[in-house]
Amino acid sequence: MSVKTRVLVVGLGLIGASFAKAIKQAGVAYVLGYDRDPAVPGLAIDTQVIDEAVADLSSVTSVDVVVMAVPVMAIAGVVEQIRHLVADLTVLTDVGSVKGEVVRSVAGVLGDLPACFVPGHPIAGGEKSGVLAAEADLFKHHMHILTPLDNSSPAAVELLTGLWTACGAEVVAMTVQRHDEVLAATSHLPHLLAFSLVDTLARESENREIFKYAAGGFRDFSRIAASDPTMWHDIFLTNRDATLSILRRFQSDLSLLEQAIEHADGDLLRTVFTRAKSARDYFTEILESRQK
Ligand SMILES: NC(=O)c1ccc[n+]([C@@H]2O[C@H](COP(=O)([O-])OP(=O)(O)OC[C@H]3O[C@@H](n4cnc5c(N)ncnc54)[C@H](O)[C@@H]3O)[C@@H](O)[C@H]2O)c1
Repeated sequence: MSVKTRVLVVGLGLIGASFAKAIKQAGVAYVLGYDRDPAVPGLAIDTQVIDEAVADLSSVTSVDVVVMAVPVMAIAGVVEQIRHLVADLTVLTDVGSVKGEVVRSVAGVLGDLPACFVPGHPIAGGEKSGVLAAEADLFKHHMHILTPLDNSSPAAVELLTGLWTACGAEVVAMTVQRHDEVLAATSHLPHLLAFSLVDTLARESENREIFKYAAGGFRDFSRIAASDPTMWHDIFLTNRDATLSILRRFQSDLSLLEQAIEHADGDLLRTVFTRAKSARDYFTEILESRQK
């Protein structure tokens, strides 16, 4: 009989609970779960997300893998609580949306970066949160980015790759810095724009009236403004350089459009819209090919 990998998931929200549920259903791991909210591990047992609830991290003794699935600014506190496990772990990983800050947090608490540590980030999720939003197929057909460090052990990368592949994800690797730049452009900036637009339109209470008349365009663009404020607070405070850089480029391009409207420069508007449509059509093709 093969012995299952023992995985401890710390933070049983949308991402942690979905990962736990997926590896448990795939039969590749025995999953222990802990959450700061004492009601959550019990709910995770009731909904078949985990095999065993952990009430106190200091009582955990033998696990192979620890997955930290908490907001980025909570990572240091979690590392403090699981530091007694680190020497015997095969893998220490996380799912945080910013990688540089997670690496700084682990190094800050442990003093150095252990070979078992392989940061990661699933490129899947949504605006729901909490254990009851868990979906075992959340990561299917999506990428999981690993950002192995210079001293990350190949055995750790291999075990982690196997777990995420069992969730149906395609595992890719890149550097921490590249990850934070790419995600600032493709995820962090769009979320900032959605939060900002919805806030601008909703600020006056009588303005909420206008949502009655909103249709598909507003719905598509604004969906991500329903995302968790704590998670996004942490992302913008911990990926400041990369988000400021892409935000400033965007502001400058937006000013060009503002001027084009002001001066009735239809050529510029048509050029920008045509270029953007072609880029979006290409992205649609990529999305469709991923679903096959
Ligand atoms: N939601 C997404 O779309 C998405 C996608 C990819 C990555 N992420 C990353 O995943 C991580 C978790 O996000 P989520 O969407 O699952 O959030 P969530 O709000 O659904 O869940 C977070 C869970 O962590 C628990 N928690 C918070 N602090 C804790 C602590 N110190 N110790 C133990 N438990 C703690 C909370 O009680 C909650 O159950 C974040 O770092 C986020 O950046 C989110």
